[in-house]
Amino acid sequence: MARDSLTITDNRTGKSYEVPVEAGTIRAVDLRQIKAGADDFGLMSYDPAFINTASTRSAITEVDGERGILLYRGYPIEQLCEQGTYLEIAYLILNGELPTAAQLEAWTHEVLHHTFVHENIKELMQAFRYDAHPMGMFISTVAALSSFYPEASDVESAENRRYLITRLIAKVPTIAAFSYRHNRGLPYVYPNNNLSYCGNFLSMIFKMSEPEYRVNRTLEQALDILFIMHADHEQNCSTNAMRAIGSSRVDPFSALAGAAAALYGPLHGGANEAVLRMLAQIGDVRQVPAFIERVKSGEGRLMGFGHRVYKNYDPRARLIKRVAEQVFEVTGRNPLIDIAVELERIALQDDYFVSRKLYPNVDFYSGIIYQVMGLPVDLFPVLFAIPRTVGWLAQWEEMIMDPEQKIARPRQIYTGPAQRDYVPLKKR
Ligand code: ACO
Repeated sequence: MARDSLTITDNRTGKSYEVPVEAGTIRAVDLRQIKAGADDFGLMSYDPAFINTASTRSAITEVDGERGILLYRGYPIEQLCEQGTYLEIAYLILNGELPTAAQLEAWTHEVLHHTFVHENIKELMQAFRYDAHPMGMFISTVAALSSFYPEASDVESAENRRYLITRLIAKVPTIAAFSYRHNRGLPYVYPNNNLSYCGNFLSMIFKMSEPEYRVNRTLEQALDILFIMHADHEQNCSTNAMRAIGSSRVDPFSALAGAAAALYGPLHGGANEAVLRMLAQIGDVRQVPAFIERVKSGEGRLMGFGHRVYKNYDPRARLIKRVAEQVFEVTGRNPLIDIAVELERIALQDDYFVSRKLYPNVDFYSGIIYQVMGLPVDLFPVLFAIPRTVGWLAQWEEMIMDPEQKIARPRQIYTGPAQRDYVPLKKR
Protein backbone atom coordinates (compact mmCIF):
# COMPACT_ATOMS: atom_id res chain seq x y z
CA MET A 1 0.00 0.00 0.00
CA ALA A 2 1.61 3.32 -1.08
CA ARG A 3 2.09 5.85 1.70
CA ASP A 4 2.54 9.63 1.44
CA SER A 5 5.84 9.55 3.22
CA LEU A 6 9.56 9.29 2.65
CA THR A 7 11.81 6.82 4.44
CA ILE A 8 15.30 8.10 4.99
CA THR A 9 18.17 5.91 6.14
CA ASP A 10 21.04 7.73 7.79
CA ASN A 11 24.11 5.77 6.77
CA ARG A 12 26.10 7.45 9.54
CA THR A 13 24.01 5.70 12.18
CA GLY A 14 22.03 3.07 10.27
CA LYS A 15 18.81 4.53 11.64
CA SER A 16 15.72 4.98 9.49
CA TYR A 17 13.20 7.81 9.67
CA GLU A 18 9.83 8.30 8.06
CA VAL A 19 8.82 11.84 7.16
CA PRO A 20 5.45 12.87 5.69
CA VAL A 21 5.18 14.03 2.07
CA GLU A 22 2.51 16.64 1.43
CA ALA A 23 1.94 18.36 -1.92
CA GLY A 24 5.14 16.78 -3.23
CA THR A 25 7.11 18.38 -0.42
CA ILE A 26 8.80 17.36 2.82
CA ARG A 27 9.21 19.81 5.66
CA ALA A 28 12.85 20.74 6.11
CA VAL A 29 12.29 20.85 9.87
CA ASP A 30 11.38 17.14 9.83
CA LEU A 31 15.03 16.49 8.99
CA ARG A 32 16.08 17.97 12.32
CA GLN A 33 15.31 14.69 14.13
CA ILE A 34 18.07 13.01 12.10
CA LYS A 35 21.15 13.25 14.28
CA ALA A 36 24.58 11.63 14.06
CA GLY A 37 25.06 11.88 17.83
CA ALA A 38 23.58 13.31 21.01
CA ASP A 39 25.23 16.74 20.49
CA ASP A 40 24.27 16.97 16.85
CA PHE A 41 22.00 19.92 15.99
CA GLY A 42 20.16 17.75 13.48
CA LEU A 43 20.17 17.54 9.71
CA MET A 44 19.52 20.72 7.72
CA SER A 45 18.84 21.20 4.00
CA TYR A 46 21.19 23.46 2.02
CA ASP A 47 19.58 25.36 -0.85
CA PRO A 48 21.35 28.54 -1.97
CA ALA A 49 19.05 30.70 -4.13
CA PHE A 50 16.01 28.57 -3.11
CA ILE A 51 16.40 26.39 -6.19
CA ASN A 52 14.31 23.58 -4.72
CA THR A 53 12.69 25.07 -1.62
CA ALA A 54 9.09 26.21 -1.25
CA SER A 55 9.16 29.15 1.16
CA THR A 56 5.40 29.48 1.50
CA ARG A 57 1.98 28.22 0.59
CA SER A 58 0.29 30.70 -1.72
CA ALA A 59 -3.13 30.90 -3.37
CA ILE A 60 -2.36 33.90 -5.60
CA THR A 61 -0.39 33.01 -8.73
CA GLU A 62 0.47 29.70 -10.33
CA VAL A 63 3.25 29.32 -12.89
CA ASP A 64 3.51 26.03 -14.77
CA GLY A 65 6.85 26.51 -16.44
CA GLU A 66 6.88 23.19 -18.31
CA ARG A 67 3.56 23.90 -20.02
CA GLY A 68 3.96 27.70 -20.30
CA ILE A 69 0.90 28.53 -18.19
CA LEU A 70 0.39 31.54 -15.91
CA LEU A 71 -2.73 31.80 -13.74
CA TYR A 72 -3.82 34.57 -11.33
CA ARG A 73 -6.23 33.08 -8.77
CA GLY A 74 -6.87 30.28 -11.29
CA TYR A 75 -7.63 32.50 -14.29
CA PRO A 76 -5.35 32.18 -17.37
CA ILE A 77 -3.31 35.30 -18.10
CA GLU A 78 -4.54 35.30 -21.72
CA GLN A 79 -8.20 35.65 -20.65
CA LEU A 80 -7.39 38.31 -18.07
CA CYS A 81 -5.43 40.38 -20.60
CA GLU A 82 -8.05 40.03 -23.30
CA GLN A 83 -11.14 40.67 -21.14
CA GLY A 84 -10.08 42.41 -17.93
CA THR A 85 -8.72 45.78 -16.91
CA TYR A 86 -5.75 46.39 -14.61
CA LEU A 87 -7.72 47.61 -11.57
CA GLU A 88 -10.17 44.73 -11.96
CA ILE A 89 -7.31 42.22 -12.00
CA ALA A 90 -5.65 44.04 -9.10
CA TYR A 91 -8.87 43.48 -7.13
CA LEU A 92 -8.82 39.80 -8.11
CA ILE A 93 -5.21 39.38 -7.03
CA LEU A 94 -5.84 41.08 -3.69
CA ASN A 95 -9.22 39.52 -2.87
CA GLY A 96 -9.19 36.15 -4.60
CA GLU A 97 -12.34 36.72 -6.67
CA LEU A 98 -13.29 38.96 -9.58
CA PRO A 99 -15.26 42.01 -8.40
CA THR A 100 -18.94 42.52 -9.05
CA ALA A 101 -19.82 45.69 -10.99
CA ALA A 102 -20.54 47.52 -7.70
CA GLN A 103 -17.33 46.30 -6.06
CA LEU A 104 -15.29 47.33 -9.10
CA GLU A 105 -16.86 50.78 -9.14
CA ALA A 106 -16.17 51.32 -5.44
CA TRP A 107 -12.60 50.00 -5.73
CA THR A 108 -11.84 52.08 -8.83
CA HIS A 109 -13.18 55.21 -7.12
CA GLU A 110 -11.13 54.46 -4.00
CA VAL A 111 -7.87 54.06 -5.97
CA LEU A 112 -8.40 56.94 -8.39
CA HIS A 113 -9.21 59.37 -5.58
CA HIS A 114 -6.02 58.81 -3.63
CA THR A 115 -3.53 59.47 -6.40
CA PHE A 116 -2.23 62.74 -4.99
CA VAL A 117 0.85 62.74 -2.75
CA HIS A 118 1.56 65.19 0.06
CA GLU A 119 3.28 68.35 -1.20
CA ASN A 120 6.22 67.52 1.08
CA ILE A 121 6.72 64.35 -0.96
CA LYS A 122 6.96 66.47 -4.09
CA GLU A 123 9.51 68.74 -2.42
CA LEU A 124 11.46 65.72 -1.27
CA MET A 125 11.62 64.44 -4.84
CA GLN A 126 12.65 67.85 -6.12
CA ALA A 127 15.73 67.62 -3.89
CA PHE A 128 17.19 64.78 -5.98
CA ARG A 129 20.04 65.47 -8.40
CA TYR A 130 18.71 66.87 -11.68
CA ASP A 131 19.39 63.66 -13.63
CA ALA A 132 18.69 61.13 -10.85
CA HIS A 133 17.76 57.65 -12.05
CA PRO A 134 13.94 57.33 -11.82
CA MET A 135 14.18 53.98 -10.04
CA GLY A 136 16.48 55.36 -7.33
CA MET A 137 13.94 58.15 -6.78
CA PHE A 138 11.03 55.70 -6.80
CA ILE A 139 12.59 53.41 -4.17
CA SER A 140 13.53 56.29 -1.85
CA THR A 141 10.18 58.05 -2.18
CA VAL A 142 8.13 54.94 -1.48
CA ALA A 143 10.24 54.39 1.66
CA ALA A 144 9.72 58.03 2.65
CA LEU A 145 5.93 57.60 2.40
CA SER A 146 6.01 55.55 5.61
CA SER A 147 6.90 58.72 7.52
CA PHE A 148 3.69 60.32 6.21
CA TYR A 149 1.56 57.48 7.57
CA PRO A 150 2.31 57.02 11.27
CA GLU A 151 -0.41 54.35 11.40
CA ALA A 152 1.46 52.34 8.75
CA SER A 153 3.16 50.22 11.39
CA ASP A 154 -0.16 48.70 12.48
CA VAL A 155 0.04 45.77 10.10
CA GLU A 156 -2.07 43.41 12.23
CA SER A 157 -5.30 45.33 11.58
CA ALA A 158 -7.02 44.05 8.42
CA GLU A 159 -8.79 47.38 8.02
CA ASN A 160 -5.57 49.34 8.28
CA ARG A 161 -3.85 47.00 5.83
CA ARG A 162 -6.57 47.66 3.24
CA TYR A 163 -6.21 51.39 3.79
CA LEU A 164 -2.44 51.21 3.22
CA ILE A 165 -2.74 48.88 0.24
CA THR A 166 -5.15 51.26 -1.50
CA ARG A 167 -2.94 54.26 -0.81
CA LEU A 168 0.12 52.51 -2.24
CA ILE A 169 -1.60 51.28 -5.41
CA ALA A 170 -3.05 54.77 -5.93
CA LYS A 171 0.21 56.66 -5.37
CA VAL A 172 2.88 54.59 -7.12
CA PRO A 173 1.99 55.89 -10.61
CA THR A 174 2.28 59.47 -9.31
CA ILE A 175 5.69 58.84 -7.75
CA ALA A 176 6.81 57.02 -10.91
CA ALA A 177 5.69 59.86 -13.17
CA PHE A 178 7.24 62.55 -10.93
CA SER A 179 10.57 60.65 -11.04
CA TYR A 180 10.43 60.64 -14.83
CA ARG A 181 9.55 64.35 -15.07
CA HIS A 182 12.34 65.20 -12.65
CA ASN A 183 14.88 63.22 -14.63
CA ARG A 184 13.83 65.08 -17.79
CA GLY A 185 13.82 68.49 -16.13
CA LEU A 186 10.09 68.88 -16.70
CA PRO A 187 7.51 70.25 -14.25
CA TYR A 188 5.64 67.55 -12.34
CA VAL A 189 2.08 66.96 -13.57
CA TYR A 190 -0.59 66.45 -10.90
CA PRO A 191 -2.95 63.47 -11.24
CA ASN A 192 -6.21 63.80 -13.14
CA ASN A 193 -8.76 61.69 -11.30
CA ASN A 194 -11.17 61.75 -14.23
CA LEU A 195 -8.85 59.51 -16.22
CA SER A 196 -8.34 55.76 -15.90
CA TYR A 197 -5.41 54.34 -13.92
CA CYS A 198 -3.27 54.04 -17.06
CA GLY A 199 -4.70 57.13 -18.75
CA ASN A 200 -3.80 59.23 -15.72
CA PHE A 201 -0.28 57.77 -15.71
CA LEU A 202 0.20 58.66 -19.39
CA SER A 203 -1.10 62.16 -18.64
CA MET A 204 1.37 62.63 -15.76
CA ILE A 205 4.19 61.45 -18.07
CA PHE A 206 3.42 63.26 -21.31
CA LYS A 207 1.22 66.31 -20.57
CA MET A 208 2.81 69.60 -21.57
CA SER A 209 1.01 72.94 -21.94
CA GLU A 210 -2.40 71.62 -23.07
CA PRO A 211 -5.19 72.14 -20.47
CA GLU A 212 -6.16 68.45 -20.59
CA TYR A 213 -4.06 65.61 -21.94
CA ARG A 214 -5.93 63.60 -24.58
CA VAL A 215 -5.27 59.94 -23.88
CA ASN A 216 -4.85 57.71 -26.91
CA ARG A 217 -7.15 54.70 -26.31
CA THR A 218 -4.88 52.19 -28.01
CA LEU A 219 -1.85 53.21 -25.97
CA GLU A 220 -3.93 53.31 -22.77
CA GLN A 221 -5.21 49.79 -23.42
CA ALA A 222 -1.76 48.53 -24.37
CA LEU A 223 -0.34 49.86 -21.11
CA ASP A 224 -3.25 48.32 -19.21
CA ILE A 225 -2.47 44.90 -20.71
CA LEU A 226 1.25 45.28 -19.95
CA PHE A 227 0.32 46.18 -16.36
CA ILE A 228 -1.91 43.08 -16.04
CA MET A 229 0.94 40.90 -17.33
CA HIS A 230 3.37 42.30 -14.78
CA ALA A 231 1.00 42.28 -11.79
CA ASP A 232 2.37 39.17 -10.08
CA HIS A 233 4.66 36.23 -10.74
CA GLU A 234 4.67 34.14 -7.55
CA GLN A 235 7.87 33.82 -5.51
CA ASN A 236 10.36 35.79 -7.63
CA CYS A 237 13.32 37.75 -6.23
CA SER A 238 11.46 40.98 -5.40
CA THR A 239 8.38 39.21 -4.01
CA ASN A 240 10.61 37.12 -1.82
CA ALA A 241 12.23 40.37 -0.64
CA MET A 242 8.77 41.84 0.11
CA ARG A 243 7.81 38.83 2.17
CA ALA A 244 11.16 38.60 3.97
CA ILE A 245 11.25 42.29 4.90
CA GLY A 246 7.55 42.31 5.80
CA SER A 247 8.04 39.28 8.04
CA SER A 248 9.72 41.60 10.56
CA ARG A 249 6.31 43.36 10.73
CA VAL A 250 7.75 46.59 9.33
CA ASP A 251 5.23 48.84 7.55
CA PRO A 252 4.40 47.99 3.90
CA PHE A 253 5.97 51.20 2.52
CA SER A 254 9.38 50.18 3.85
CA ALA A 255 8.93 46.58 2.71
CA LEU A 256 7.80 47.69 -0.75
CA ALA A 257 10.83 49.97 -1.12
CA GLY A 258 12.98 46.89 -0.46
CA ALA A 259 11.05 44.83 -3.01
CA ALA A 260 11.47 47.60 -5.60
CA ALA A 261 15.20 47.68 -4.85
CA ALA A 262 15.37 43.96 -5.62
CA LEU A 263 13.53 44.58 -8.89
CA TYR A 264 16.04 47.28 -9.86
CA GLY A 265 18.79 44.67 -10.37
CA PRO A 266 19.75 43.72 -13.94
CA LEU A 267 19.03 40.03 -13.36
CA HIS A 268 15.42 40.79 -12.50
CA GLY A 269 13.62 43.91 -13.76
CA GLY A 270 16.47 45.13 -15.93
CA ALA A 271 16.51 42.49 -18.69
CA ASN A 272 14.20 44.42 -21.05
CA GLU A 273 16.77 47.20 -21.18
CA ALA A 274 19.47 44.66 -22.10
CA VAL A 275 17.23 43.34 -24.91
CA LEU A 276 16.93 46.82 -26.43
CA ARG A 277 20.68 47.32 -26.31
CA MET A 278 21.23 43.92 -27.94
CA LEU A 279 18.72 44.63 -30.74
CA ALA A 280 20.30 48.03 -31.42
CA GLN A 281 23.73 46.42 -31.50
CA ILE A 282 22.59 43.78 -34.05
CA GLY A 283 21.20 46.69 -36.05
CA ASP A 284 19.94 44.80 -39.10
CA VAL A 285 17.91 41.66 -39.79
CA ARG A 286 20.72 40.37 -42.02
CA GLN A 287 23.07 40.32 -39.04
CA VAL A 288 20.80 37.97 -37.07
CA PRO A 289 22.27 34.61 -38.22
CA ALA A 290 25.81 35.78 -37.39
CA PHE A 291 24.64 37.01 -33.98
CA ILE A 292 22.97 33.66 -33.23
CA GLU A 293 26.22 31.89 -34.14
CA ARG A 294 28.13 34.13 -31.73
CA VAL A 295 25.67 33.32 -28.92
CA LYS A 296 26.04 29.60 -29.66
CA SER A 297 29.80 29.84 -29.51
CA GLY A 298 29.49 31.30 -26.01
CA GLU A 299 29.93 35.00 -26.86
CA GLY A 300 27.17 36.45 -24.70
CA ARG A 301 23.55 35.46 -24.34
CA LEU A 302 20.44 36.01 -26.37
CA MET A 303 18.85 38.48 -23.96
CA GLY A 304 15.12 38.06 -23.39
CA PHE A 305 15.45 34.32 -23.93
CA GLY A 306 15.38 31.64 -21.27
CA HIS A 307 13.80 31.58 -17.83
CA ARG A 308 14.42 29.77 -14.56
CA VAL A 309 10.83 28.49 -14.45
CA TYR A 310 9.48 28.62 -18.02
CA LYS A 311 10.84 25.77 -20.10
CA ASN A 312 8.24 26.53 -22.73
CA TYR A 313 6.98 29.70 -24.41
CA ASP A 314 6.36 32.37 -21.73
CA PRO A 315 2.63 33.06 -22.31
CA ARG A 316 3.24 36.75 -21.65
CA ALA A 317 5.74 36.97 -24.53
CA ARG A 318 3.10 35.68 -26.97
CA LEU A 319 0.57 38.29 -25.74
CA ILE A 320 3.07 41.13 -25.83
CA LYS A 321 3.91 40.43 -29.46
CA ARG A 322 0.26 41.00 -30.34
CA VAL A 323 0.08 44.21 -28.28
CA ALA A 324 3.19 45.47 -30.10
CA GLU A 325 1.45 45.25 -33.48
CA GLN A 326 -1.54 47.23 -32.14
CA VAL A 327 0.71 49.94 -30.69
CA PHE A 328 2.67 50.25 -33.95
CA GLU A 329 -0.56 51.14 -35.75
CA VAL A 330 -0.61 54.33 -33.66
CA THR A 331 3.06 55.08 -33.20
CA GLY A 332 4.60 53.70 -36.36
CA ARG A 333 6.74 50.59 -36.45
CA ASN A 334 9.75 50.18 -34.21
CA PRO A 335 12.32 48.73 -36.63
CA LEU A 336 13.80 46.70 -33.78
CA ILE A 337 10.72 44.42 -33.85
CA ASP A 338 11.82 42.94 -37.19
CA ILE A 339 15.17 42.01 -35.70
CA ALA A 340 13.43 40.52 -32.65
CA VAL A 341 11.00 38.47 -34.75
CA GLU A 342 13.85 37.16 -36.92
CA LEU A 343 15.90 36.28 -33.82
CA GLU A 344 12.95 34.37 -32.43
CA ARG A 345 12.28 32.59 -35.75
CA ILE A 346 15.84 31.39 -36.13
CA ALA A 347 16.37 30.55 -32.47
CA LEU A 348 13.20 28.46 -32.24
CA GLN A 349 14.45 26.29 -35.13
CA ASP A 350 17.96 25.93 -33.81
CA ASP A 351 18.92 22.84 -31.85
CA TYR A 352 21.03 24.90 -29.37
CA PHE A 353 17.93 26.77 -28.14
CA VAL A 354 15.43 23.91 -28.67
CA SER A 355 17.48 21.37 -26.70
CA ARG A 356 17.97 23.82 -23.81
CA LYS A 357 14.28 24.79 -23.87
CA LEU A 358 15.11 28.46 -24.38
CA TYR A 359 12.07 30.49 -25.43
CA PRO A 360 11.34 34.24 -25.47
CA ASN A 361 10.43 35.56 -22.02
CA VAL A 362 8.28 38.56 -21.05
CA ASP A 363 11.16 40.97 -21.53
CA PHE A 364 11.87 40.06 -25.15
CA TYR A 365 9.16 42.35 -26.57
CA SER A 366 8.09 44.69 -23.73
CA GLY A 367 10.97 47.16 -24.14
CA ILE A 368 10.23 47.53 -27.86
CA ILE A 369 6.70 48.67 -27.00
CA TYR A 370 7.76 51.05 -24.24
CA GLN A 371 10.39 52.61 -26.50
CA VAL A 372 7.98 53.26 -29.34
CA MET A 373 5.52 54.82 -26.86
CA GLY A 374 8.25 57.37 -26.10
CA LEU A 375 9.22 55.97 -22.71
CA PRO A 376 12.96 55.98 -22.01
CA VAL A 377 14.96 52.91 -21.10
CA ASP A 378 15.79 54.08 -17.57
CA LEU A 379 12.06 54.22 -16.81
CA PHE A 380 11.58 50.50 -17.63
CA PRO A 381 12.13 49.16 -14.08
CA VAL A 382 9.71 51.80 -12.76
CA LEU A 383 7.14 50.69 -15.35
CA PHE A 384 7.56 47.19 -13.95
CA ALA A 385 7.27 48.35 -10.31
CA ILE A 386 3.92 50.16 -10.76
CA PRO A 387 1.86 47.08 -11.66
CA ARG A 388 3.94 44.69 -9.52
CA THR A 389 2.97 46.76 -6.48
CA VAL A 390 -0.34 44.88 -6.30
CA GLY A 391 1.43 41.51 -6.43
CA TRP A 392 3.89 42.55 -3.72
CA LEU A 393 1.05 43.76 -1.49
CA ALA A 394 -1.14 40.68 -2.01
CA GLN A 395 1.81 38.43 -1.20
CA TRP A 396 2.70 40.59 1.80
CA GLU A 397 -0.81 40.38 3.21
CA GLU A 398 -0.96 36.62 2.58
CA MET A 399 2.29 36.30 4.54
CA ILE A 400 0.98 38.43 7.43
CA MET A 401 -2.18 36.31 7.69
CA ASP A 402 -0.43 32.93 7.34
CA PRO A 403 -0.20 31.32 10.81
CA GLU A 404 2.70 29.15 9.62
CA GLN A 405 4.90 32.14 8.79
CA LYS A 406 7.34 33.73 11.21
CA ILE A 407 10.16 36.20 10.79
CA ALA A 408 12.21 34.98 7.79
CA ARG A 409 15.50 33.81 9.14
CA PRO A 410 17.48 31.15 7.24
CA ARG A 411 20.19 28.95 8.70
CA GLN A 412 23.76 28.89 7.41
CA ILE A 413 26.68 26.52 7.10
CA TYR A 414 29.43 28.35 8.93
CA THR A 415 32.75 28.28 7.04
CA GLY A 416 34.80 30.81 9.06
CA PRO A 417 37.54 30.21 11.62
CA ALA A 418 36.89 28.23 14.78
CA GLN A 419 36.75 30.16 18.05
CA ARG A 420 40.04 31.95 18.80
CA ASP A 421 41.36 34.59 21.20
CA TYR A 422 41.55 38.29 20.44
CA VAL A 423 45.11 39.49 19.66
CA PRO A 424 45.93 43.01 20.95
CA LEU A 425 46.90 45.48 18.21
CA LYS A 426 50.52 45.69 19.31
CA LYS A 427 50.98 41.95 18.97
CA ARG A 428 49.56 41.64 15.45
N1 ACO B 1 21.12 32.71 -24.50
C1 ACO B 1 21.97 31.69 -24.75
N2 ACO B 1 22.10 30.61 -23.96
C2 ACO B 1 21.36 30.58 -22.85
C3 ACO B 1 20.46 31.62 -22.51
C4 ACO B 1 20.35 32.70 -23.37
N3 ACO B 1 19.51 33.71 -23.12
N4 ACO B 1 19.86 31.32 -21.34
C5 ACO B 1 20.36 30.14 -20.96
N5 ACO B 1 21.27 29.68 -21.87
C6 ACO B 1 21.98 28.40 -21.84
C7 ACO B 1 23.09 28.41 -20.82
O1 ACO B 1 24.31 28.81 -21.39
C8 ACO B 1 23.09 26.96 -20.38
O2 ACO B 1 23.75 26.22 -21.40
P1 ACO B 1 24.73 24.99 -21.00
O3 ACO B 1 23.82 23.97 -20.36
O4 ACO B 1 25.34 24.56 -22.28
O5 ACO B 1 25.71 25.57 -20.00
C9 ACO B 1 21.64 26.54 -20.42
O6 ACO B 1 21.04 27.42 -21.41
C10 ACO B 1 20.90 26.71 -19.08
O7 ACO B 1 21.08 28.06 -18.62
P2 ACO B 1 21.13 28.52 -17.09
O8 ACO B 1 21.94 29.77 -17.01
O9 ACO B 1 21.56 27.35 -16.24
O10 ACO B 1 19.61 28.79 -16.79
P3 ACO B 1 19.04 29.60 -15.54
O11 ACO B 1 17.69 29.03 -15.29
O12 ACO B 1 20.01 29.64 -14.42
O13 ACO B 1 18.95 31.08 -16.11
C11 ACO B 1 18.10 33.08 -17.07
C12 ACO B 1 17.75 31.71 -16.46
C13 ACO B 1 18.95 33.89 -16.07
C14 ACO B 1 16.80 33.85 -17.34
C15 ACO B 1 18.89 32.87 -18.39
O14 ACO B 1 18.10 32.12 -19.30
C16 ACO B 1 19.36 34.18 -19.01
O15 ACO B 1 20.42 34.68 -18.64
N6 ACO B 1 18.56 34.76 -19.97
C17 ACO B 1 18.89 36.04 -20.55
C18 ACO B 1 18.51 37.18 -19.58
C19 ACO B 1 17.03 37.39 -19.51
O16 ACO B 1 16.32 37.44 -20.50
N7 ACO B 1 16.50 37.56 -18.28
C20 ACO B 1 15.07 37.86 -18.02
C21 ACO B 1 14.38 36.76 -17.31
S1 ACO B 1 12.65 37.13 -17.15
C22 ACO B 1 12.53 38.17 -15.78
O17 ACO B 1 13.31 38.15 -14.88
C23 ACO B 1 11.42 39.14 -15.70
